[in-house]
Amino acid sequence: MSLQHIAIIMDGNGRWATLRKRPRTFGHQAGTKSVRSVIQACVKLGVPNLTLFAFSSENWSRPEKEVSRLMDLFMRSLNKETPELLQQGVKQNFIGDLGRFSEKLQQKMREVSQLNPSELRMNLNIAVNYGGRWDIVNAAKKLAMDIQQGVKQIDAIDETVFDEYMSLKDLPAVDLLIRTGGEHRISNFLLWQIAYAELFFTDTLWPDFGEQQLSDIITEFNQRERRFGKTSEQINA
Ligand code: IPE
Ligand code: IPE
Ligand code: MG
Repeated sequence: MSLQHIAIIMDGNGRWATLRKRPRTFGHQAGTKSVRSVIQACVKLGVPNLTLFAFSSENWSRPEKEVSRLMDLFMRSLNKETPELLQQGVKQNFIGDLGRFSEKLQQKMREVSQLNPSELRMNLNIAVNYGGRWDIVNAAKKLAMDIQQGVKQIDAIDETVFDEYMSLKDLPAVDLLIRTGGEHRISNFLLWQIAYAELFFTDTLWPDFGEQQLSDIITEFNQRERRFGKTSEQINA
């Protein structure tokens, strides 16, 4: 089966900067270069869906200055990168509890997500104020409302129906999840959507990650046997 959906936990910006005796925000700035090169590489390789973890629901707990710098950087990147992304055939979409952002940023996200490239080559989902548990609870709430209003019947609920209430509902499940920065954890990123994803953890810090590292991981991904519960013999029959 081909590679339909890559998700990335872009981690290690702060440590990258600290190693260079620079403020953490210098690392976030440097990380935007990797974002650009990974998006470009995915388009080039024909990956139809890419989901990036840019800001978690837990990241609000960071020092106020760092959070506000991240917000600035986010706004500036949207303004700066959107025209070129459209030209490359990239459609942007935002997932997460967006209501917590400033009105200006919410407006910008709405505006950007309404823009469509003339020829769609890739869906880029940017997860901001996103939490995997939030996503599931949010889906359960919306489903409960539909049941209350008689739009859905309890007996009809199955995994496919539940999925319609989740973020990324119209996209294939994640095939490949990558985390840079050396930690071996999910940090409340996509939970439901990575049920059968292949997981890759690399020590490379996000600002050092680029096309070459991505293509090495994809090569290894292609060598893995995804069995989905079956035996190897069944897969190779
Ligand atoms: C990831 O890098 C970027 C965000 C979470 C916004 P970090 O800022 O977590 O970098 P480290 O993990 O401290 O090195
Ligand atoms: C996960 O990184 C969130 C993003 C990459 C946006 P963190 O650096 O926040 O994760 P923890 O806190 O080390 O688990
Ligand atoms: Mg981190």
